[in-house]
Amino acid sequence: MTRHLRVDGPNHDNRLDHMAQGVIGQPLNRLEGPLKVTGRATYAAEARPANMAYGVLVQASVPAGKVLEIGDAPGALAVIQDKRMIRYAAQGLDEKGPTSGPDRIEYMGQSIALVVAETFEAARHAAQNIVVRYKPEAVPVDPESVTPELPPKKQSAAGDVDKAMREAAFTLDQVWRTPSQMSAAMEPHAAIAEWDGDSVTIRAALQMLSSNRKQMADALGIRESKLRLLSPYVGGGFGSKLGINAEAVAAAIAAKELGRPVMVAMTRQQVFDLAHRRSETRQRIRLACDAAGRLNGIGHEVLVSNLPGSEFTEPVAQATPFTYQAAHRQVVHAVARIHRGCAGSVRAPGEAVGVTVFECAMDELAELAGIDPVELRLKNIPDVEPTTERPFSSHKLAEALREGAERFGWSGRRAPGQRLEGEWFIGMGMAAAVRVNMLQESRAKVTLVQDGTAIVETDMTDIGTGTYTILGQLAAEMLGLPTDRVEVRLGDTQFPPASGSGGSFGAASSGNSVFLACEEIRQQIAKAMGCDERDLTLQDGMARAGNVAKSLSELVDGTITGEGHLQPGKTEKSHRQATWGSHWAEVAVNRWTGEVRVRRMMGVFACGRVLNEKTARSQCLGGMTFGIGIALTEAMEHDPRDGHAVSRDLAEYHIPSHADVPSLDVHFLPERDAYVGPLQAKGLGELGICGAGAAVLNAIHNACGARVRDLPATPDKIIAGLEP
Ligand code: MOS
Repeated sequence: MTRHLRVDGPNHDNRLDHMAQGVIGQPLNRLEGPLKVTGRATYAAEARPANMAYGVLVQASVPAGKVLEIGDAPGALAVIQDKRMIRYAAQGLDEKGPTSGPDRIEYMGQSIALVVAETFEAARHAAQNIVVRYKPEAVPVDPESVTPELPPKKQSAAGDVDKAMREAAFTLDQVWRTPSQMSAAMEPHAAIAEWDGDSVTIRAALQMLSSNRKQMADALGIRESKLRLLSPYVGGGFGSKLGINAEAVAAAIAAKELGRPVMVAMTRQQVFDLAHRRSETRQRIRLACDAAGRLNGIGHEVLVSNLPGSEFTEPVAQATPFTYQAAHRQVVHAVARIHRGCAGSVRAPGEAVGVTVFECAMDELAELAGIDPVELRLKNIPDVEPTTERPFSSHKLAEALREGAERFGWSGRRAPGQRLEGEWFIGMGMAAAVRVNMLQESRAKVTLVQDGTAIVETDMTDIGTGTYTILGQLAAEMLGLPTDRVEVRLGDTQFPPASGSGGSFGAASSGNSVFLACEEIRQQIAKAMGCDERDLTLQDGMARAGNVAKSLSELVDGTITGEGHLQPGKTEKSHRQATWGSHWAEVAVNRWTGEVRVRRMMGVFACGRVLNEKTARSQCLGGMTFGIGIALTEAMEHDPRDGHAVSRDLAEYHIPSHADVPSLDVHFLPERDAYVGPLQAKGLGELGICGAGAAVLNAIHNACGARVRDLPATPDKIIAGLEP
């Protein structure tokens, strides 16, 4: 039986706080950890079906135009240029395959063909030497060189910000720029396709199997029922695997044509060309406040870019309308249509760069107004969502600010340039953290077996986030089993369709579906015990109700199966849902070289119920590390002549490595959100990113007085900002 739940109203029932097994929230190690560290967890490119051939994508060397002719590839089995091949990845949650046809070129580096050979080396050699004749076109590649579009749904305004600026005691009006960024997951995209008659199985690196299956079936022109996707282990996604990409489509087409399995794995350089980038942004922020620091005007005008016709717009200012109160507000998202690689979701799309820049602006305003930055934020927290007057589902920004200030020792902060240790300026900075909360439809099946074990099945993915573990914990808790008695099976479209991993919604969405499936099983056990489900205690394989105690082996005849189906409902609209927190950083800035060392960093986060304290904390540590990257090092440079990605490896595109990351502290505020489903858990995955970079940048200013508004804040820019 399937238990359906649409989240139409509040759930104040904290039953998970009082279950007997006591594993929810516990910092359990990852269930699949041993498989990963011993190399037994097979990733997409690690299967070796018999008789497999290897494909390598051929990429366009002009920024736009048409492919007229593709030459021969000596030593190759085939050169495939099928009109179903895709130019760029599908966006997350798309139901259709993206624009098809490799003969038209929209950006330099786009895939235009696939060369297949007996070995990877032979395919690569042929692909690199193939001669392609083009009819090139001249196209714009610089977002500030074209007149942008203003997508109507992306704008919002109230009152008159110009007037608020004229009448304010203190105003700020500055422009920031952030560069293109790459998801840069550890595992490059790869796929192995194998046909059996008219059915195909594709092992791939994907985040959201149920929508990926729709996209892939649409791209290939086959029915969904003929397609099985397998992604049991994924080496990070960060947005780049939300939608299907060129390698998996090409592998499926080639495998069919050659009548044998084909693997296509991208090189790291190809990932930079072919996976979505985060758009570069230009952000003008205007802030107006009275003498006491109360905001009266907020303007956030954003310019981003994407390919012509591509739907996605980096939602840079999506948290701006509800983070702080101000009577006069204006949010503008403009999109420049240019020919750089396709822009899409990358690690907290929107807030990652939007909150970071906004929180830098708040720091500047605090200084102008002579108010402590924490105070300025506390003074401007709205009681309800501005404009819509909707209540917040839960809201702990003020607590996160106060607790963070206390724990970090904020009272020890001095004025800019006042702390010098040897040749290092020392400073502290802070920022608010905010990220929208979402739920997605999700299904799961749970089977309780007579021997006191259980199996969880859903096509949910674990992209390194801990999904296996939290779903196992949930089933163990609800069914009264030790966690090592629960087997979790993920990443296979033969299992019930889940939310997938994206937008921070994976744990709550898929977790709720497992919870519901387990409630269904508990109901059946309660019936056998002759009690109400609420009066049933399940612990270590025993069922108790009143004075009656029975073992599961007595109660279960073979197996009991339950399915859970969660759908978002009215609370999506009735309440503004977001996660909140605060970021704190202490940095040292070298007075001669401009080098920045982050000395310590702390985040305080409220995300509803924490399902596993260790995996949750790890998500935050990763997010804060991304914040260091956004602030100091990450930049994908484009060639100004043709737009192509110049930084195409992890040496040129510097993600913070161990030496860049100091001791990071994470604290969770206890919270139960009643409006986000029975788990009362909000999405945490991306919150740690949102604003983290601002804490670092604000600390740089506090250390040495430099304000860098053109990110990342590399030493050259910091030196330029130092007093001579
Ligand atoms: Mo995320 S950028 O939705 O994987």
